[in-house]
Amino acid sequence: MADKLQFGLIGCGSQGRFLSEGLKMTDKADLVACADPNSEAAQTATARCGYQKAYDSAEAMLDDAAIDAVIVATIHDQLQPMALAAVKAGKHTFVEKPMALNASDGQALVDSAKQADVKLMVGYTLRFMPERILMKRLLDEGAIGEITHVSAGQCIGFSGDHWLNDPKHGGGPLFYIGSHAIDNALWMIGRKPTRVFADVHRPDDAHAEASADAVISFEGGLSLHACTSYRSGCSYGWLDIIGTAGRMRCEWQSRRLYIHSQKIEAYKQPTELEVPLQPYIPALPATAIGSLAAFRYLPMWAAEMHEFADAISQQREPSVTGEDGVVLLQVADAIFESGRTGEPVAI
Ligand SMILES: NC(=O)c1ccc[n+]([C@@H]2O[C@H](COP(=O)([O-])OP(=O)(O)OC[C@H]3O[C@@H](n4cnc5c(N)ncnc54)[C@H](O)[C@@H]3O)[C@@H](O)[C@H]2O)c1
Repeated sequence: MADKLQFGLIGCGSQGRFLSEGLKMTDKADLVACADPNSEAAQTATARCGYQKAYDSAEAMLDDAAIDAVIVATIHDQLQPMALAAVKAGKHTFVEKPMALNASDGQALVDSAKQADVKLMVGYTLRFMPERILMKRLLDEGAIGEITHVSAGQCIGFSGDHWLNDPKHGGGPLFYIGSHAIDNALWMIGRKPTRVFADVHRPDDAHAEASADAVISFEGGLSLHACTSYRSGCSYGWLDIIGTAGRMRCEWQSRRLYIHSQKIEAYKQPTELEVPLQPYIPALPATAIGSLAAFRYLPMWAAEMHEFADAISQQREPSVTGEDGVVLLQVADAIFESGRTGEPVAI
């Protein structure tokens, strides 16, 4: 057996290449093969990331290439079928968010991964941002007491004819960016959601939703206000958590954490922290960083790949599981249903 994990890539667009660059930074993998029906995209991934062989279909690659694990980073409606093909072929699978277009397809993928005894991880990158990791640690240490209110959002300005705007391909801000914000809030809260009431704005049937706002309820009287939009004049994301002993806030794309805590002397006045990468994500060998070296998100994608590779070699569950992905999809199903009916939906 090779001393490094043998990796393949399914879906050679921008995110597939970013994750490949991140994987190279970990020095834990050989980039063996990549697949995309768009042969130009596959050739670009071989040239830029160093994959040894390009295929024009995932099935051909899974049949032929000697690989242990794959990254699946296709358009949204292809994520679940391609990830399912990979786990059925016995490959450990990192699948980009939202993993599937509904909870039932997400659960089928989780079940197949269990049956095949392979690791399944979902690409919720915000969980690897240092300021969010520190926020989670402080929350778990009780820095702001019991959580009473949460607000989370992720918004961009986006229009035009593109798969990310096409409902047939699972386009729309909820899956593309809102899923990150909601997953991150669910992780911080650490409880299962019970009910959703949502307002979903759809310009017409030919396009995906342009925005969605939801109140997501939890046991114990806690609510999460979630917002996602393609209608924003700027790229903006936030996570605000208010508790019985203070409050914290993170903003995308900033490394700052705002904290006001009655429990921690240093933060008894409102305080703004600039959070460094280390020790919150692993320090990686400074190798193999190509054209993307300056890209702000690359360390977080590398940290995701580091976690996935370690989960495989240590034979343990990754920190973001397929089950986490299914909970997000249950919330998304309920947001769409509530938006359609105007009624609250129980989860
Ligand atoms: N976690 C993050 O920070 C982050 C950031 C951006 C995008 N993403 C996610 O990454 C995924 C890809 O997004 P992108 O921006 O790279 O899109 P993209 O359009 O740049 O690339 C998608 C690629 O998938 C290919 N594809 C389509 N069907 C395929 C199939 N059956 N088999 C193999 N390849 C297929 C397309 O030809 C294209 O090259 C999406 O799930 C997106 O939400 C995640």
